Amino acid sequence: MIVVFGGTGRLGRQIVERLHSDGNAVRVVTRDPSSAKPPRGVEVVAGDLLDRPSLVRAVTGARAIVCTAQGGGGKGKNGPKGIEGTGVPALIEVAQDTAIENFVYFSTASARPDSPVAFFRLKFAAERALRDSGLPYSILRPTHLMDTWAEMLAESLTGKGKATIFGSGENPVSWVAGVDVARVAAELAVSPGQGWSADLGGPEALTLRTVNRRIAVSLGVEIKGENTMPVRMLKTMSPLVRPFNPVLARQMLMGATLDTEPQVVDSGEIWGRYGEPLSLSAWLETYRPGVREGV
Ligand SMILES: NC(=O)c1ccc[n+]([C@@H]2O[C@H](COP(=O)([O-])OP(=O)(O)OC[C@H]3O[C@@H](n4cnc5c(N)ncnc54)[C@H](OP(=O)(O)O)[C@@H]3O)[C@@H](O)[C@H]2O)c1
Repeated sequence: MIVVFGGTGRLGRQIVERLHSDGNAVRVVTRDPSSAKPPRGVEVVAGDLLDRPSLVRAVTGARAIVCTAQGGGGKGKNGPKGIEGTGVPALIEVAQDTAIENFVYFSTASARPDSPVAFFRLKFAAERALRDSGLPYSILRPTHLMDTWAEMLAESLTGKGKATIFGSGENPVSWVAGVDVARVAAELAVSPGQGWSADLGGPEALTLRTVNRRIAVSLGVEIKGENTMPVRMLKTMSPLVRPFNPVLARQMLMGATLDTEPQVVDSGEIWGRYGEPLSLSAWLETYRPGVREGV
């Protein structure tokens, strides 16, 4: 049984689908089983990273644990302090009493101990807790998912005809397709953990301006203007907004790092092992958000 925390999320859903279609027994752990819509045959159980007894129940009989759950979009106790700071370490502790062959943890290529974004510092600390746990593990550190960004950029492009630009929009980024990340995660989940950690980026380094242009072409819309958020504004506004909207404050800082920190990674070795990843254009052909959501 492969137990997936975050299996209702954007990436987790794709990992569950892949594991299931490969013929594996899969269990999705969610705080709200009634709204989970996994493929038929996938088990769904109630569980919360902040409720330890539920974790013990959820991992019973697990051969591997996959954790894509995150607090990046959450507030209060479900923010990064609660999820990455407390929940993930609790899950690691609970996993130590199991006989799992692999704990596949999703961090981010931006995770480092001195990041200006607390969420990224906490991701790094969670990685360290797993490395120090003695468990067999694999840590995947994706750059930025095409899925997440295309959805957000397409909304503005189709609604107002505006490109969304953080900072200069000229920093190259190794955008990666969720479906490719899911493919790697599914392979890892059925293999013994090798104490392995890797950044995961796609085949091209593209600026945010180029991504906006390609999405606009793919959707057949004209770019009529820009919604530009200068880095200085993002950094100044973030602490002011935090008391009222901590999620937006976090997104502002993350937007600033997208433009100011290196975002290009070479994952050639991984793709050599697991098969070539999709380019943005190829991904848009199949998954472009406007088509999928019926916009
Ligand atoms: N999206 C990106 O561009 C990107 C880039 C780099 C790295 N990553 C990493 O990749 C992973 C997946 O990202 P995503 O965008 O697919 O995430 P997502 O769509 O935001 O999904 C988050 C998941 O976390 C689960 N969750 C939240 N709080 C929980 C709690 N207290 N207990 C149990 N589960 C909880 C949610 O499950 P329920 O609501 O069903 O309980 C949900 O399935 C994350 O770790 C993220 O940091 C993402």
